[in-house]
Amino acid sequence: MTSYAVTGAARGIGFEFVNQLSADSGNTVFAIVRSKATATKLAGLGRPNVYIIEADITNTNALHLAAAEIATVTGNSLDYLINNAAFVEPERDGLTLDSYSSEELLTKDLLDSFNVNVVAVIHTINIFLPLLKNGKAKTVVTISTGLGDLDATLAFENAASAPYSISKAAVNMVNAKYAAQYKPEGFIFLALSPGLVDTSTRAPTEEELEKVTEMIGNFRKVYPDFTGPITPQTSVQMQLEVINRITVNDTGAFISHKGNKEWL
Ligand SMILES: NC(=O)c1ccc[n+]([C@@H]2O[C@H](COP(=O)([O-])OP(=O)(O)OC[C@H]3O[C@@H](n4cnc5c(N)ncnc54)[C@H](OP(=O)(O)O)[C@@H]3O)[C@@H](O)[C@H]2O)c1
Repeated sequence: MTSYAVTGAARGIGFEFVNQLSADSGNTVFAIVRSKATATKLAGLGRPNVYIIEADITNTNALHLAAAEIATVTGNSLDYLINNAAFVEPERDGLTLDSYSSEELLTKDLLDSFNVNVVAVIHTINIFLPLLKNGKAKTVVTISTGLGDLDATLAFENAASAPYSISKAAVNMVNAKYAAQYKPEGFIFLALSPGLVDTSTRAPTEEELEKVTEMIGNFRKVYPDFTGPITPQTSVQMQLEVINRITVNDTGAFISHKGNKEWL
């Protein structure tokens, strides 16, 4: 049996990780969600090897309870932790650092992003580490983004998505710090970008479509062959291929679903 815990598993990329991993009945998958009540897609899978566990990752008590629940099922171990949950402010993502309507809103978005995308990820890793130390794979994957890459930011001339990008750049360093500490114990820490993935739950408004078209145009300046977002299915398939072939020699890496620094 191989065990996986995935945070933010109710929808989007997190759900698809649970879907693909639990298709193998030899895997046990812990789907960590903010609210069981809204995890209807997961419940709909109807798979006995999927355990739905409730935890907001900003709540350390809830994370401790989740770890205890996993310990009961696995006999105190965990092979893989996938830190997928993230905060993205939907309304103001297009703003740049100096175009906010108020200093308070800018502070709020910076702190909310840092709290979920960095601080909560660190707590999740710390709380699950005792289980991971007893696991076979000793692997922690933190889902990052090419937006957290300094070179790509300059190449794309992308000043938007600032609080989110800053928090993801910070979590890449979190990944490196744990890798530096735990390489001697055979751990693999990986910051993995999923590509640009369509995880929308409704059709885009005209304004959103305009923004996406403009963004795709900007991406094409660097990646002329880029045609648009990939599906969660394709992204997770590619990410799992990367996860399955990395070794302890790669620990601390920040790479994409393509296994390199090609973000799209
Ligand atoms: N989609 C892309 O193109 C893209 C590109 C680059 C990187 N990424 C990264 O890929 C990961 C997944 O993205 P996605 O597009 O699938 O996101 P999504 O559809 O917005 O889903 C985010 C998930 O995170 C959960 N979440 C948010 N805050 C949480 C908290 N405090 N505690 C626990 N769960 C929380 C949400 O829970 P609820 O369901 O309860 O709201 C949701 O299930 C993220 O790390 C994101 O940064 C995505």
